[in-house]
Amino acid sequence: MLHKSLMGLVLGTALAATSLGFAGTAQAQTKEIQMLHWWTSGGEAAALKVIKDALAKQGYTWKDVPVAGGGGNAAMTTLKAMVAAGNYPTSSQMLGYNVLVYAEAGKLGDLTDLAKSEGWDKAVPAAFQKFSTYDGKWVAVPVNVHSVNWVWINKAVMDKIGGTEPKTFDDFLALLDKAKAAGVTPLALGGQDWQEAILFDDVVLSTGGPEFYKKAFNDLDEASLKSDTMKKSFDNLAKLKAYVDPNFSGRDWNLTTAMVIKGDALVQVMGDWAKGEFHNAQKKPGEDFLCYRFPGTDGSVAYNSDMFAMFDVGADRKDAQVALAKTTMSKEVQSAFNVIKGSVPSRTDVPDTDFDICGKKGIADLKKANDGGTLFGSLAQGYGAPPAVTNAYLDVVDKFFNGQIKTSDEAVTQLVKAINDAK
Ligand code: GAL
Repeated sequence: MLHKSLMGLVLGTALAATSLGFAGTAQAQTKEIQMLHWWTSGGEAAALKVIKDALAKQGYTWKDVPVAGGGGNAAMTTLKAMVAAGNYPTSSQMLGYNVLVYAEAGKLGDLTDLAKSEGWDKAVPAAFQKFSTYDGKWVAVPVNVHSVNWVWINKAVMDKIGGTEPKTFDDFLALLDKAKAAGVTPLALGGQDWQEAILFDDVVLSTGGPEFYKKAFNDLDEASLKSDTMKKSFDNLAKLKAYVDPNFSGRDWNLTTAMVIKGDALVQVMGDWAKGEFHNAQKKPGEDFLCYRFPGTDGSVAYNSDMFAMFDVGADRKDAQVALAKTTMSKEVQSAFNVIKGSVPSRTDVPDTDFDICGKKGIADLKKANDGGTLFGSLAQGYGAPPAVTNAYLDVVDKFFNGQIKTSDEAVTQLVKAINDAK
């Protein structure tokens, strides 16, 4: 199933070999870390600074390759072109199955010795090692664990409308109705395919429950994908359209978070990188904003983890790469970085002391879900299926949300077809 995505990479190999011919003789700056990522919002940049600063203290310089665009699609296009030209970054931010695509194409290095001496095998849950290792070798490090089944609520607006925590999807609709009646934009949504798909991930988890989510969006079970439950999920998604403001189309996720921060909207459904924006704006959970699991999904965690994929960079750049990996995985950086980023540590041995109430809940929820079999890869965020399937999914959800696909019946038919074609 990885093969569709692999094709582009393999096509680039001949080119890469040619350019390496002369690049190989030039001595790259040993102390430089070239890092490709899509962390360009205020909260994201503040979190990344923790890692940059920790490396600067050790004498490493940072060559930033930022590619704006939440969800990382634009970044992945840039990366593909760089790799095809034989221009490997030291490391790139990557999600889930993308790591496996680059590993299968032989583009990633081997950090197994470091992993062994640092005890990562024991500290990192198997669910994430599935994506940070390939063929028994460590090829990437999980910087964090995010999850997409959260809602972020402005507390002052919530108090004003007399709202309480919505526990079910119907509660959620009732709460959105209250905001609407009070003249506040109920649902802040950024109308980009990946943001709409995050919303739909959550709606499916809420509508069908954990087992259904796993079967449909991790196992790609066709009967589940074409089931009445999936149709009902599309019906539920359609209901949410009524609560979005007229300017939602194309809006960036962080500008959407800002609507909630300012009290222009009641709630955003988004991964916990949104909390990084609240944190960056000096807002406090419980006082200025509220974090709840998406109604009807408490007990499950639909995750994504930012991996730093480590490229096969050659001996002269290896020392800097090892420093990046080691620093990123240290308990201190895992705590300091994730407190700011809104995510939780990928290691299970990092204390939750410095985290706020949302972070503490995130850490506890992750443990419970991992122990209890309710930890699922987010399909919207590259952890449910290989990239071609993810893209097919984003496309169908986007067309449905924007009216090019008109009914839930048609959406289900298109979803099954698109996923089968992509496999
Ligand atoms: C996600 C990523 C997060 C955050 C978000 C918005 O894909 O995992 O770390 O950066 O995009 O940019």
